This record gives sequence, structure tokens and C-alpha cells, in this order.
Amino acid sequence: MGAMSEPVRPARPHHKLTDEGRRMREVLTYARRGSRFTPAQEAAWEAHHRDWVIPDEAVDRPDFSWSDWFGREAPLIVEIGSGVGEATAALAASRAAYNVVAFEVWRPGVAETLGRLAQAGADNVRMCSVDAVWSMQHLFASGSISELWTFFPDPWHKKRHHKRRLVSPSFAALAADRLVPGGAWRLATDWADYAEQMVAVLDAEPRLSGGVVERWDERPVTKFERKGVNAGRSITDLRYTRLP
Ligand SMILES: C[S@@+](CC[C@H](N)C(=O)[O-])C[C@H]1O[C@@H](n2cnc3c(N)ncnc32)[C@H](O)[C@@H]1O
Repeated sequence: MGAMSEPVRPARPHHKLTDEGRRMREVLTYARRGSRFTPAQEAAWEAHHRDWVIPDEAVDRPDFSWSDWFGREAPLIVEIGSGVGEATAALAASRAAYNVVAFEVWRPGVAETLGRLAQAGADNVRMCSVDAVWSMQHLFASGSISELWTFFPDPWHKKRHHKRRLVSPSFAALAADRLVPGGAWRLATDWADYAEQMVAVLDAEPRLSGGVVERWDERPVTKFERKGVNAGRSITDLRYTRLP
């Protein structure tokens, strides 16, 4: 029997095992949520997942390439945590020249997004449900992302959960590396202390320059933004660019 070849990438989150074969504990930026589809989500999934959802296992292939899944080469935009796709569909529809990769681990959100993409006539988006942090590390080359969007990332309020926040020094270094020089990272949050953390972390990353900006008028108001506003929180938009 021939020797098994070494995998080209480390195991994805949820697939890492300890020496005893138990699942490794991992610090992830998301929590598992329900996976039940509504009838509308089910219909959208059935209609579009074959064309627009990249199966998780695909990223284990040594020859994985984003352009193969889009069927064309085009500059890449990456959204992390696209939720139900309100921003994704509207922004992608007006950016037909870009390939948009939307990461969302919550399947009902992915299914709902598919319906919104169809409605908006945006066929330039591919959905991926593999952890976006792992994916940024292992599936993108340095200087390969034209724009990065993280709108209303999970706030992880409790102090002991702050380590799960997406915007951390290590992730900022990774994002800065993957962005093309001049490429923008747009963020929004409705949590004042997370906005402060974002500014502190991103200001400290030497390859990024930017700060708090006016609300990005192209960004549609999402469910999470509405929830925040209704609860009396103010919204902070940020924009940083990758220095040459
Ligand atoms: C608070 S919601 C915001 C959704 C959307 N951007 C909006 O504004 O309505 C954050 C989303 O990010 C997703 N998420 C968090 N970390 C992620 C990761 N590492 N990879 C993929 N999705 C992630 C969660 O599943 C969740 O749906």
C-alpha cells in the first residue's frame, strides 16, 4: 500500500483531533447556532446552492482555487460574517467586475443570502461556511484581496470572551498581509467598546492606515444594525487601507 500523502493545509476548525482522537478545543469567533431552514430558505438553498455555495470539503483539495469556483479571474472582495446577506447582495450587485467571497458559518443565513443574491441579480458571489479566520490564513495569498468587509462582527461582550473577537492584533496582521496595497478594510459595529478596540488594534498595525469614518452610504442597514439602533446604541463605521 502506498504511503498517504501529507495534507497541504492543516485541519479545518472542528476537524482537529487530540492525540487521543478527541475534538480539540479551539477559540473561534462564532458560536454554533440553529441549523433549521424556513421554507423560503429551503427553497433558496435548493435552487442555488449547487452554483453558489462552495462545499466545506472543497478547501481540503490541494488544487483549491477561488477563480475555479467563480469560473473567471477577477479581483477579490471578501466579506466575513455575511449573516442573511443584506449587505452582501446589494453591494455585490453593484460590483459585477469583482468576485465576492462571503464567509458565513450559519447555514440558514447562507440559504437566506442565496435568495437575496438571486433577487438582486448578483451572480458574482460564492458562499463559504469554513471558518473565515482559518480560510484567510490558508486559502488566500499575500496581497490578493482588494477589499475586506466585516460588518457587525459578533461583539462577545463578556470580558472572558473578548479573546473570541474577530478584530484582534493577530487577525489585523493577517488581514493587512492579505490585502492588496491600497486595498480597504471596511468595518462597522454598534458596540462602543468594540469600536474602541478596533481603532486601537488597527492603529497599532503598521501596514494599515485609517480610522473612524462617516457611515458608508452604500452599506444597507442590516438586521443587526437596526437592532443596535433600536436599543439606543450608536453605529461606528471604520475604514483602513493597506499601505504600499
Ligand atoms: C452579528 S452577525 C452580523 C451579520 C451581518 N454582517 C449583519 O450586519 O447583519 C455576525 C455573523 O458573523 C458570522 N461569523 C462570525 N465569525 C465567523 C467566522 N470566523 N467565519 C465565518 N462566519 C463568521 C456569525 O455566524 C454571524 O452570523
